[in-house]
Amino acid sequence: MKVKTLGQFIIERQADFPYAKGELSRLLRDIGIASKIVNRAVTKAGLIEILGETGETNVHGEQVKKLDVYANEQFIAAFKAGGEVCAIASEENDDIIPIYSDISKNAKYVVAIDPLDGSSNIDVNVSVGTIFSIYRRKSNVGAPGQLSDFLQTGLEQVAAGYVVYGSSCMLVYTTGRGVNGFTLDPSIGEFCLSHPDIKIPEQGAIYSINEGNYLKFPEGVKKYIKYCQEEDKATNRPYSSRYIGSFVADFHRNLMKGGIFIYPSTAKAPKGKLRLLYECHPLAFIVEQAGGMASDGFNRILEKRVESLHQTTPLFIGSKAMVEKAMEFMKEYSSEKV
Ligand code: AHG
Ligand code: MN
Ligand code: MN
Repeated sequence: MKVKTLGQFIIERQADFPYAKGELSRLLRDIGIASKIVNRAVTKAGLIEILGETGETNVHGEQVKKLDVYANEQFIAAFKAGGEVCAIASEENDDIIPIYSDISKNAKYVVAIDPLDGSSNIDVNVSVGTIFSIYRRKSNVGAPGQLSDFLQTGLEQVAAGYVVYGSSCMLVYTTGRGVNGFTLDPSIGEFCLSHPDIKIPEQGAIYSINEGNYLKFPEGVKKYIKYCQEEDKATNRPYSSRYIGSFVADFHRNLMKGGIFIYPSTAKAPKGKLRLLYECHPLAFIVEQAGGMASDGFNRILEKRVESLHQTTPLFIGSKAMVEKAMEFMKEYSSEKV
């Protein structure tokens, strides 16, 4: 069978954008390379401590780092070396990282990234991931990027995607013309097109939410959960409850099978937990491109403007019919406080 690699696919698709000069293609390719390096580290995660002599230095004389810090460094290094990006916003850094170098000073893009999502699962051999979002800068070229370059709505994303470091490593992305998924073939070290033109089922039978927070959920969410648990053959209820605690992995499963993921407001997190810029906007872009929906319970996620780098939002994301149903419950039983 003829395989198509991520690199080949990106070049083919560049023709879709007649004015493209190849910068976005190179940036996507750089993300693919950095994620292979991170995947290598993730697959060795359990070994690093064993191989480390003191717990601080491994056999190669390298400093043993927490994987999320390591992933952050890998992506930042790739963006700096690639020259297509003039600033980075990362979950791991309080402020933006402006880039100004000979190769980056005319860069058109900024990248927002959650380098390793699902941190509670890193040490227990459960899937984790990376989420990224690419915007065109608003500031003039010839200077490093600025905070204001990130304060856009999700509708202005040029591309977005994620990588799941799971039973296999998968990269899924969109540039606004559908969603395509690539699986890493470790024997050749290439991401190969395995899931062309992904569409999320309009209706699924999975709901994903941390029910430990149930007592502090908005009334609309409580009522919706009960609805998910009621029996009704026509709508395949009761739905199954599935919650990994890695947003990327929960999202990916629901994208493939159909389902809804909810992270609502809670007592601990009155405005939700997930970050608008580098968690919600990119996956909202993907889900809409796949025919699904993403809402904060009342408003479309992609229309929300980022006001600060690490701002959070409640999130309802997944199969269209399921998100619409959950929104009906929110409208009837909860008032909008976000
Ligand atoms: P991160 O590891 O990047 O900080 O993100 C953690 C997130 C997300 O991956 C997951 O869906 C959520 O936290 C789980 O939160 P709870 O443990 O509160 O359910
Ligand atoms: Mn995260
Ligand atoms: Mn993270």
